[in-house]
Amino acid sequence: MYFDTHAHYDDEMFDGDREWLLDRALPESGVALVLNPGCERRSSLFAVELSEKYDYVYAAAGWHPSDAASFDESSETLIRELCGKKKVRAIGEIGLDYHYGADTKETQQKVLRRQLAIARELGKPVIIHDRDAHADCMAILAAYPEVKGVFHCYSGSAEMAAELVKRGWYLSFTGAITFKNARRAPEVITSVPLDRIMIETDSPYLAPVPNRGHRNDSSNLPYIAERIAELRGMTVGAVAELTMENGRRFFDI
Ligand code: NI
Repeated sequence: MYFDTHAHYDDEMFDGDREWLLDRALPESGVALVLNPGCERRSSLFAVELSEKYDYVYAAAGWHPSDAASFDESSETLIRELCGKKKVRAIGEIGLDYHYGADTKETQQKVLRRQLAIARELGKPVIIHDRDAHADCMAILAAYPEVKGVFHCYSGSAEMAAELVKRGWYLSFTGAITFKNARRAPEVITSVPLDRIMIETDSPYLAPVPNRGHRNDSSNLPYIAERIAELRGMTVGAVAELTMENGRRFFDI
């Protein structure tokens, strides 16, 4: 049984078959838990709606760095309100993206800080999106030592991973670790403690090999688990069990 700790079933790419996937296909393929994060108002509300409809779906609410421009007072109010819902277990996904948003760094940083302050106040963990912004992410998070979280689709170095582990954080890996050009992933995966690893698909994006380039869904989790099993000398079943346990601990499920 698998826990997909990061999948966007609110995405319009699932409009044609969302119900079929969540009602039948995913549970039948061994997916036992899904965490659907929000990226702005619409997706945060949609994530909560899905969590209310499906027993095994949980949600997070937050503003993605790519949507930082639409964050205002009412966003804060919404995040606080949604965090009061039973199945909302984190604030996310939040963070910094300098790959696509190099011209909005200041806004992104401000929005990240405001959401970290809410997380600190409410005692919620956070889901961090960090793309080409490792140093700034680490510096900003260091100012909120009470806030714990997970780096989703971890892409940093082994040194940075060790620092995060020391601070009590988790790392989550996507299908990107199955790509041929994933140079850092093997070193990171073999160096972090097994009780800090989670797996995710980031569906509908980042489908693992051999389905790379196609729309992704949680039934592809075994390919990610397989790569970790290979690197750590474990069975796929043991990786599934371990990442399930870690995810449940992290999201308090
Ligand atoms: Ni995501």
